[in-house]
Amino acid sequence: MNKATRKTVIAGNWKMNMTPAETTAFINELAPMVAGKDGCDIVLCVPFVDIANAVEAAKGTNIKIGAENVHFKESGAYTGEISAKMLNACGVEYVVIGHSERRQYFGETDQTVNLRTLAAVNAGLTAIVCVGETLEQRELGYTETLLKYQTKMALTNVKPEQLANIIIAYEPVWAIGTGVTATADQADEGNGFVRAAVEEMFGKAAAEAVTVQYGGSMNAKNAAELLSKVNVDGGLIGGASLKTADFTVIVDAAQ
Ligand code: PGA
Repeated sequence: MNKATRKTVIAGNWKMNMTPAETTAFINELAPMVAGKDGCDIVLCVPFVDIANAVEAAKGTNIKIGAENVHFKESGAYTGEISAKMLNACGVEYVVIGHSERRQYFGETDQTVNLRTLAAVNAGLTAIVCVGETLEQRELGYTETLLKYQTKMALTNVKPEQLANIIIAYEPVWAIGTGVTATADQADEGNGFVRAAVEEMFGKAAAEAVTVQYGGSMNAKNAAELLSKVNVDGGLIGGASLKTADFTVIVDAAQ
């Protein structure tokens, strides 16, 4: 298996943006723009409160809906949290896990990323697991070590057959929301480190089959070059996923 046979996934990560009404309007506008573009899977990961509207608006389209986080317990006294089973019951198919903003602002650790990943795949969701180095870690020469460590920690106790429901997003922290994009070669290299970690854990065939996205200031201008790289199987897109025209250009680049 190689890039041509791997699944390409273009996923928006809306972060803390959009009301339910804005969500419906956005998807109604986007759906005809991306209709029939089946060279990639198209996903929008939206805030919890927007999920119902997003699932409803996406019915009958090629847009799939994801959440931006999930708790790792099935149920119980975890005020303010949402379980994988709840997401599943709402029609959610994907969930972003371990985004650097959650690691930075909300105490997310490699251990909780792993627990959330297991909870997601055990409930039948596809996990989009984020890994990425800070600028300091890159400058100290730890990018490969860090990416492999984060990847292996996230995938601990994942069964080989569950890898089909895991996407890994390489998102250099210094490139997120900064307008500074990794060069296509840096993205390819980072994604290659992630793939190598998967190979070390699960073997070559699994590593060649796993979808590894790049994320971090991917936009309408740079998407085609980033997506042309052999290890880049799609994108996790923040800012540019909030504009239908920009997001459509990125989907087009992935065809
Ligand atoms: P950005 O965000 O595209 O706005 O840099 C990417 C992400 O955080 O997933």
